[in-house]
Amino acid sequence: MNDQLLENFKTRLTATEASFKVMHRAPSNIALVKYWGKYDPQLPANPSISFTLSRAFTETLVFFEPSMSPKINLKFEGKAKPSFIPKVQSFIDRIKDYCPYLSGYSLEIETSNSFPHSSGIASSASGMAALAMAICSLEANLSGDKVDLKKASFLARLGSGSAARSIEGPLMSWGLHKDILGSSDLFATPFFEAHPIFNAYQDAILLVHKGVKSVSSTVGHNLMNNHPFAEQRFAQANENLARLLRVLRTGDLDDFIEIVELEALSLHAMMFSSTPSYILMQPGTLSIIQRIRTFRKETGIPVCFTLDAGANVHVLYPLENKEIVVDLIDNELSAFCE
Ligand code: DP6
Repeated sequence: MNDQLLENFKTRLTATEASFKVMHRAPSNIALVKYWGKYDPQLPANPSISFTLSRAFTETLVFFEPSMSPKINLKFEGKAKPSFIPKVQSFIDRIKDYCPYLSGYSLEIETSNSFPHSSGIASSASGMAALAMAICSLEANLSGDKVDLKKASFLARLGSGSAARSIEGPLMSWGLHKDILGSSDLFATPFFEAHPIFNAYQDAILLVHKGVKSVSSTVGHNLMNNHPFAEQRFAQANENLARLLRVLRTGDLDDFIEIVELEALSLHAMMFSSTPSYILMQPGTLSIIQRIRTFRKETGIPVCFTLDAGANVHVLYPLENKEIVVDLIDNELSAFCE
């Protein structure tokens, strides 16, 4: 099955003598059921699902210039950033079987994020998705077809796993799951069946700790190999996703909160119990979590938290509760932020 799918992503298109310029904006995403653990080539050990974030995004302009000796130049937020080039180069090398035409172009890349650099908000998902979309636009230009979003997700995945989910929205699942028709480990697909309460769901990102985290996600994923709880974790993620799919359809916020917070804490529990063990949460992370839970108990407002692989807290809540939750953030939670 996968072999046939992989063949479908291949093309015989080659570079032409015309240059091509394109700009893409790709959103970041926050996983509700977490991808944690992978195997080659960048395939997830369990399926995941995320909200697409409309205001945290990367914008990337790519100028594809026909060349016999292809090079990459890159500017980040207006300044040359040679340290980003090896990552882009290894991405291009990784996708060459699927995009053979790339060997005929030099790339001038200008990229920037809507969120501050080194804020601790991961940019690899939106960054890789924007680049994958730019490449698929070039491919569409060469073939005369529409941009293939499935291929964009497939390519983005090869750059960074979670980037597979940064192609469309408002909810994207990635990874084979029995309850999602057409789901695949190779690319993400949009989930369109959510209850209207989730249409304009809000996510406030509280920056508890800015800067580069002490253990990268790539290292964290690798620590799931030989992790004593790995198999239970992968089974739990599958079950949580099955439950969450039902909850997303019905709009039951109590169950939504239970599953989302359990997923966040289970992700960090994997870090606590890997060898070597490590902790990305900060004291402020726990203070915010406790305060959110107390506030929810006291007020009945359905606000909850999730975490990515870092100390920052994502505060999730329905649009209709915006005013009171923004007050909570401004008056209390912001005291724990940098
Ligand atoms: C905790 O996609 O950043 O955010 O595939 O190595 O690039 P690589 O890892 P990455 O891992 C994201 C992990 C996570 C959970 C998630 O987004 O599902």
